[in-house]
Amino acid sequence: MKFFVDSADLDQILELNAIGLVDGVTTNPSIIAKSGRDFKDVIAEICKEIKGPVSAEVVSTDSEHMIAEGRELRKIASNVCVKLPLTLDGLKACSTLSREEIPTNVTLCFSPNQALLAAKCGATFISPFIGRLDDISLDGIDLIEDIRTIYDNYGYETEILAASIRNVNHVKDCALIGADVITAPPSVIKSLANHVLTHKGLEAFLKDWKGTGQSIL
Ligand code: E4P
Repeated sequence: MKFFVDSADLDQILELNAIGLVDGVTTNPSIIAKSGRDFKDVIAEICKEIKGPVSAEVVSTDSEHMIAEGRELRKIASNVCVKLPLTLDGLKACSTLSREEIPTNVTLCFSPNQALLAAKCGATFISPFIGRLDDISLDGIDLIEDIRTIYDNYGYETEILAASIRNVNHVKDCALIGADVITAPPSVIKSLANHVLTHKGLEAFLKDWKGTGQSIL
């Protein structure tokens, strides 16, 4: 399973990349606004450091301008992936950009049928939002499962990029279902390594080791 970092914070992205946990990056207009940085500058900076796809989202709502913005964003770097909202205009832009071999990430997906449309329009990635469905008392994980079944039924190559991940259980459930990619905030990715018994066990091993008076180096 690929891990994308859902952030525009380069320090945090680099910290995870140094561990070997970064296959790509996703951003959205809210993440860019939170960074307080210039959109194109921050995307260029991330693209320089990270080899995998870096999603940058269009902000127009009509297909013509979405396509123009997508082409413009793609000029920033060869690993820019154009993020488009799941509307009819977004799907039209997805078809056009896909024909131009520009990678696309269709975002704000909340139903299996929306995911089916994105695959038919040649999306590289579909981003179903788990946490936002959970927020309204629906089951975001069920959505990932349904999309996996539909894509496997027809052999669609669009990758399921599970988004709006809020906790470690979301990651585990996505891995069990077979989501191709998860995108999560740095804090969630780091907390995947935590287990109380790991910390307790390490503490005991080090205490016993100290008692031997030996050293390795
Ligand atoms: C990623 O592509 C999405 O924009 C992001 O995961 C949304 O997460 P949120 O619902 O926590 O804002």
